[in-house]
Amino acid sequence: MKLSNKISGIKPSPIRKFFKYTEAAKKAGKKVYFLNIGQPDIKTPEVFMEAVRRDGREIIEYAPSAGMEVITSAVRKYYLRYGMDFSEDEIITTCGASEALRFIVDCICDSGDEIIVPEPFYTNYAAFVRASGGAIVPLTTYPENEYHYADRAAIEACVTPRTKAFLMTNPGNPTGVVLTPDEMDLIAQVAIDHDLFIISDEVYREFVYDGKPLKSFGQLDNVADRTIIVDSASKRFSACGARIGSVLSKNKELLESLLKLAQSRLCAPTLDQIGCAALYGLEQSYFDEVRAIYEKRRDAVYEELKKIDGIICTKPSGSFYITVKLPVEDAEAFLLWLLCNFDDNNETVMFTPAEGFYATDGMGRSEIRIAYVLDETSLRRAIELIRLALDKYKALGMK
Ligand SMILES: Cc1ncc(COP(=O)(O)O)c(C=O)c1O
Repeated sequence: MKLSNKISGIKPSPIRKFFKYTEAAKKAGKKVYFLNIGQPDIKTPEVFMEAVRRDGREIIEYAPSAGMEVITSAVRKYYLRYGMDFSEDEIITTCGASEALRFIVDCICDSGDEIIVPEPFYTNYAAFVRASGGAIVPLTTYPENEYHYADRAAIEACVTPRTKAFLMTNPGNPTGVVLTPDEMDLIAQVAIDHDLFIISDEVYREFVYDGKPLKSFGQLDNVADRTIIVDSASKRFSACGARIGSVLSKNKELLESLLKLAQSRLCAPTLDQIGCAALYGLEQSYFDEVRAIYEKRRDAVYEELKKIDGIICTKPSGSFYITVKLPVEDAEAFLLWLLCNFDDNNETVMFTPAEGFYATDGMGRSEIRIAYVLDETSLRRAIELIRLALDKYKALGMK
């Protein structure tokens, strides 16, 4: 018996291999600051549970495959606030952004088709595209260039006759890069010129700092027929376990095809749709409060990072991640040493080595991703630990 080449080509999560080392560090009595998890620590707003309790149904039956009216109408209203008018039949409810992305690439890719993705990228994109039989063509970005990717010549160098789409996270995971309106226009124009879909993963939409404008590809009329927006309740409302996402598009053919996949899995979880509908109805003040918390954390992390000699990092404009180039040759080896051989007052730190966010071999070996989903004091201490550890690493002659 033999499994598919598609599945054997998918790499396991790069984080999993560190699990046993963090467990061993904890068992040895060390406190580990976890900077590797993209799980918000903010309380899920109570309206979720209130709505579920109020619903009081006696049978948790299947919901419509495209989503219950309660959630699609709530998502529709939420988008109207940003000047985007999607009718309810232009919104399909999915089991998180993860399922949305899987369905989208399944609808778009035949075997050997290509999707351009700026790297470093959210690692699961590689699994989704690979499982569909397609291939990611990475558009490499660099810490020295603040991970910017809206460069016409660089994008066009990735285009081949098999290119079907441009896929990006905006605001970015893992870099925190936020596209400017001009950069979005440029990507839109390249997509028009080469007849590509734009898959815009906007699950971090509200996490944009410094008063910068909150722009979505859904606001660009000239690409309305080729834009596919990926949405999720996970990060926006601190509701990762609720498993509710959406696909929004004006492209009827895409929506009809995607609905076939949605029907094949019957429905997204019924109670989660009810709870998330209440979340989508939250006032603007909720987003402002949460944004202010993350912005302060971003500032704290950046301030501490700036105290470290030899690192390269830019203050990110969005999401809750920052990618940093460390003055070490191999960030993975440094992390292993941190977990196994280092402590300061019995404390150490865990982050994500960034190599796994690149599709190009050898890229990102010195880089790490930090998720700032801890309180400010813990974040400052965690970055201090990285600084102290780097000093010791260097003093030991390690690179
Ligand atoms: C960029 C990006 N897209 C999609 C997802 C998956 O989100 P969901 O929980 O909605 O499946 C994540 C989760 O971390 C993410 O970072």
